[in-house]
Amino acid sequence: MTSSYGLEGRAAVVTGGTRGIGRAVAGALAAAGALVCVTARDATEVRRAAAELGGIGLAGSVADPGHPEELTDLVLREFGRLDVLVNNAATNRPYGPLMEAGADAWREAFAVNVEAPLRLVQCAWRGWMREHGGAVVNVCTEGAGHVGPRVGAYGTTKAALLHLTRQLAGELAPRVRVNSVSPGLVRTEMARFVWEPGEEEVAAGLPLGRIGEPQDVARAVVWLASDAAEWVTGADLLVDGGTRVRAASTAGTYAVHERLRRVPEV
Ligand SMILES: NC(=O)c1ccc[n+]([C@@H]2O[C@H](COP(=O)([O-])OP(=O)(O)OC[C@H]3O[C@@H](n4cnc5c(N)ncnc54)[C@H](OP(=O)(O)O)[C@@H]3O)[C@@H](O)[C@H]2O)c1
Repeated sequence: MTSSYGLEGRAAVVTGGTRGIGRAVAGALAAAGALVCVTARDATEVRRAAAELGGIGLAGSVADPGHPEELTDLVLREFGRLDVLVNNAATNRPYGPLMEAGADAWREAFAVNVEAPLRLVQCAWRGWMREHGGAVVNVCTEGAGHVGPRVGAYGTTKAALLHLTRQLAGELAPRVRVNSVSPGLVRTEMARFVWEPGEEEVAAGLPLGRIGEPQDVARAVVWLASDAAEWVTGADLLVDGGTRVRAASTAGTYAVHERLRRVPEV
């Protein structure tokens, strides 16, 4: 990151900030001079990431009752402000045909992927952003724009998160900007079952010729969170290596859906 884009000294929360995309976002925000707070369920990993980032952390699920309030209170107590919220933590379960999706897993998916981002925005708004302004970035998925094998629950939650992003953008303007980033296939633990068995084949089917790295997504998130995007709200920034435009490219066969069809469970 060559510019702090006005992020120097601002305070940022990144949910799911201990590995993958969230860790890259937290690292990029810290490198831009922001004070960073990360969350995740694994307390050891939260402590490790917070120490590496020179920031703070809170262990717990974003869907835990009281977690959004506890997180906001911690950040305001430690940093005295809360300028940036990145809703990144998510679950890709229940995985499989929708006719087999149980009620508890379905509710948990919506609690983590949709309700928690809303509750966190509410807390950030009430505690800081309503008075001082701020920026929210929700991490959605390129897959929310279409259907796919076995990912119906995940896709439905992310489509809801996209809608939530636009609705909040309208409701919270002009004080708070709310945008989303929609990644294609990225080299992380969550997506390992898709990219690891035969990465070359998957990469060959993408117009830009490779799968994504967490930093590809982090750069987009940081830009949207920064003053460089001060006139951007309600937008969804696709960071997908050309996945959406592959029908017009000379890239090979798109192998991702074939992979999803072959993997019975995650
Ligand atoms: N990787 C891809 O190809 C891809 C593509 C499109 C969209 N995305 C989106 O990108 C975001 C990050 O995914 P990723 O691929 O980086 O996943 P990842 O590598 O599995 O990392 C997920 C992070 O979120 C935390 N987390 C998971 N559930 C949580 C919960 N209930 N409460 C708090 N923290 C939680 C994890 O730590 P703990 O396990 O310790 O909680 C970890 O820090 C997600 O929103 C995902 O849907 C990913």
